[in-house]
Amino acid sequence: MPKSYLQAAVEIAQEAGKILMEEFTRPLDIRYKGDEVDIVTQADKRSEQFIVSRINQLFPGHAITAEEGTGQDTASEFRWYVDPLDGTTNFAHHYPCFSVSIALAQHDSQRDTLLAAVVFNPFYNELYTAARGEAAACNGKKIAVSKVATLSTSLLCTGFPTRNRKLSPNLQYYGEFTQRSHGVRRDGSAALDLSCVASGRFDGFWEFGLNKWDVAAGILLIEEAGGKVSDFDGKPYQLGGPAILATNGLIHEEARKVALEISQRASARS
Ligand code: IPD
Ligand code: CA
Ligand code: CA
Repeated sequence: MPKSYLQAAVEIAQEAGKILMEEFTRPLDIRYKGDEVDIVTQADKRSEQFIVSRINQLFPGHAITAEEGTGQDTASEFRWYVDPLDGTTNFAHHYPCFSVSIALAQHDSQRDTLLAAVVFNPFYNELYTAARGEAAACNGKKIAVSKVATLSTSLLCTGFPTRNRKLSPNLQYYGEFTQRSHGVRRDGSAALDLSCVASGRFDGFWEFGLNKWDVAAGILLIEEAGGKVSDFDGKPYQLGGPAILATNGLIHEEARKVALEISQRASARS
């Protein structure tokens, strides 16, 4: 894997982080995507504009999928997944749990392989990085998933969608997992949640309906830190799939069985 991809992603994420911190101290210009829950700020837009133009400069012709829609489809085998501000609701409320998430994938005839990943929280200056086959790090120091071996002694994390919240089945999962673990946190940035599984702060994470840009970087971080990512059936998680389960590997099967039980109970009721 050419080192330059990861280095470029790091530099871009750090510059985008500066933009977010500038915007963090300014009066907010909040807009809504559709309803009064799904927020978009000037920060999301400025950060994405910078990231997309920099990728285009450095890697002309690469495809880019970016949340605010300014990326482009090309015939390239390389595609960047960009969340210019993950945790917009936190950002808008001055809760300093937000990040820039950037990942690069390479497509061959069969599938996408994630090559490089960066998740950066500019408020705490925490920079998570991973390159395929070369381990994962936080601020340059190698990280690994936790060694917690049972669900009952685990600390978990999840998230809730901003759109169509009434349709989300997650409250049931939240309740059940809360009773079966040391607790479930809801921190508001899926990219950081996944990074925290990679670094061993959390032992597992699940969520429904996440987009490719929310998870691409976090998945590579977890895989390179020794963890496991799948769907609720235990099959390899496909980017943009309906449900993701990401753990330290040790509690994966136990968590997956609980998730399946909950969904079977829910479908028996309906
Ligand atoms: C959101 C965050 C949140 C998750 C939501 C995402 P955004 O991304 O990752 O943790 O629960 O599902 O939409 O909108 O802040 O980029
Ligand atoms: Ca976002
Ligand atoms: Ca996001």
